Amino acid sequence: VEQLAPARPLSGKTFIVTSGPTHEPIDPVRYIANRSSGKQGHAIAAALAKLGAEVRLISGPVSITDPAGVTTTHVETARQMLAAVESALPADGAVFVAAVADWRVDSVAVDKIKKQPGTGTVPSLSMVENPDILATIGHHAQRPKLVVGFAAETRDVVANGEAKLRRKGADLIVANDVSAGGGAMGGDRNKVTLLSAAGAEAWPELDKLEVAERLAMVIAARLNGEPP
Ligand code: CTP
Ligand code: CA
Repeated sequence: VEQLAPARPLSGKTFIVTSGPTHEPIDPVRYIANRSSGKQGHAIAAALAKLGAEVRLISGPVSITDPAGVTTTHVETARQMLAAVESALPADGAVFVAAVADWRVDSVAVDKIKKQPGTGTVPSLSMVENPDILATIGHHAQRPKLVVGFAAETRDVVANGEAKLRRKGADLIVANDVSAGGGAMGGDRNKVTLLSAAGAEAWPELDKLEVAERLAMVIAARLNGEPP
């Protein structure tokens, strides 16, 4: 007799999801940012909650609203995002969707940087690398059982995504093409390839909400020990 799939296959499971960009300050009024809207990450948090999970969403600055049924923590910088993720451990699963700034300005000016008109003098920013949140959690003593990352690529999507899968200690990487015209960053639709140790699976172009629901189903199947 075939059993019906449970409607809430993730009940009793806890998840951490990161979403949105980070903002890295230059001085009290300026920062470095990127085009992430938070749409994909917030949709994944909501989709996991819909399957019964207890979801802790750690969001960078976004203009969209907090998803219903999810506990949302708001942060600005990559380092704040890492600290919030670590304090949300332990968890059964984690999905790293945020477009974390790779670098920050190494010494933030205390006062607003003033222009020096007519002198030809312009500021130059000295940058340092931010911590890699996904890689940190992928190799963490309290590593969640299932670790999922994204890969934003403008070329060689599968090869670059597979390298990130290995390097960051992830179980799954959702690779997407963010080249201009792709529209993934900031837009409503996404064309992704799902990468795992089992290989690459190209998904059709879908609405970000559909990508979220499909990914949540894959995550539930994996956590419940179903074959890939
Ligand atoms: N990521 C992260 N912390 C960072 C940078 C990235 O957690 N400091 C995560 C992202 O949330 C995503 C994955 O790592 O899940 C891949 O991000 P991406 O920017 O595509 O890769 P990078 O490793 O930063 O490499 P690059 O930007 O040079 O391609
Ligand atoms: Ca990056």
